[in-house]
Amino acid sequence: MNIYSELILDHYQNPRNFGSIKNPSKKSVIYNPSCGDRIELDIVLKQNKIKDVKFRGQGCAISQASASILTDYVLNKAKEELKKLDKDFMIKLLGIELGPNRITCALLPLEALHKLI
Ligand code: FES
Repeated sequence: MNIYSELILDHYQNPRNFGSIKNPSKKSVIYNPSCGDRIELDIVLKQNKIKDVKFRGQGCAISQASASILTDYVLNKAKEELKKLDKDFMIKLLGIELGPNRITCALLPLEALHKLI
């Protein structure tokens, strides 16, 4: 596990925004077909901004930490701004070098977000 940064480990062990929203504006679920790991995302949208966000998931440290870190980031951000987030953004946000397999893990929550906005 020590190949991961403290940030990743912290979010994996103490995920932020974990859970579900009772009446979400939108929800999505996404799987990584190569491992079966899953992220589910609920959001509340008001005036085109994300006013609440929760995720649930099962999977590796990178996918779950990435979901926790991304959900922290998206709160109170506008839909239009979030549509522009891409792979490079996620790499910067997570602050670690990732190989091709691990990148798929890191991008899973972003894919779930893009399905919603
Ligand atoms: Fe499944 Fe990372 S190994 S998402």
